[in-house]
Amino acid sequence: MHGVIFAQLKKYADTKVGGDAWNHMRTAAGLGSRAYFSVQKYPDEELGALVAAASKLTGKPVTALLEDFGEFLVPELVRMYRSIIPAEWTALDLIEQTESRIHRVVRMNDAAASPPELRVRRLSPTSVLLDYRSPRRLCAVAKGIARGVGAHYNERLIIEERRCMHTGAPACEIVISRAA
Ligand code: HEM
Repeated sequence: MHGVIFAQLKKYADTKVGGDAWNHMRTAAGLGSRAYFSVQKYPDEELGALVAAASKLTGKPVTALLEDFGEFLVPELVRMYRSIIPAEWTALDLIEQTESRIHRVVRMNDAAASPPELRVRRLSPTSVLLDYRSPRRLCAVAKGIARGVGAHYNERLIIEERRCMHTGAPACEIVISRAA
């Protein structure tokens, strides 16, 4: 997983959990004083261990934390790639075009990045079907990012996961609709 994601997880722990959460999480995850740099990649397992530690610390379920963290990531992701996000896009445009216009560029520009392959299909002018498959199985992060994209565009999105890898499906199917 990319260092940017870990750097944001630290920021999330500092601002949303507060106190000495990040140090507690690193210690509980057996990572000592591990530092994360935005130009490198780190083992995926470390993210899992840190979020599990945050869950113990806060009493919040891991999936809820991952979703909240996904939402938290959006301002930074948008800031990093602002130059390739057309001004006229809506929230659903961004979600629909992430694979072909954003994740693709991320992979080309940054050898340390391996964002998931997203397959997205417009179901109607106000809804898209997101087919998420990644060995990281972070559909909760995908749902949180979708919510954060809605917040970024000041649009209310309804996010519903119809099938999930965690319950045996080959991919997660997430329907994202713009509320009327
Ligand atoms: C401005 C738009 C976006 C940018 C710049 C962006 C960029 C990135 C980057 C740099 C990563 C880290 C990859 C790695 O660890 O190697 C990532 C991961 C991820 N992205 Fe995106 N992304 C964007 C939008 C989205 C959207 C709209 C979704 C889905 C709704 C999404 C779903 C994910 C997920 C779930 C991951 C976690 C890694 C995984 O599941 O394999 N991203 N993205």
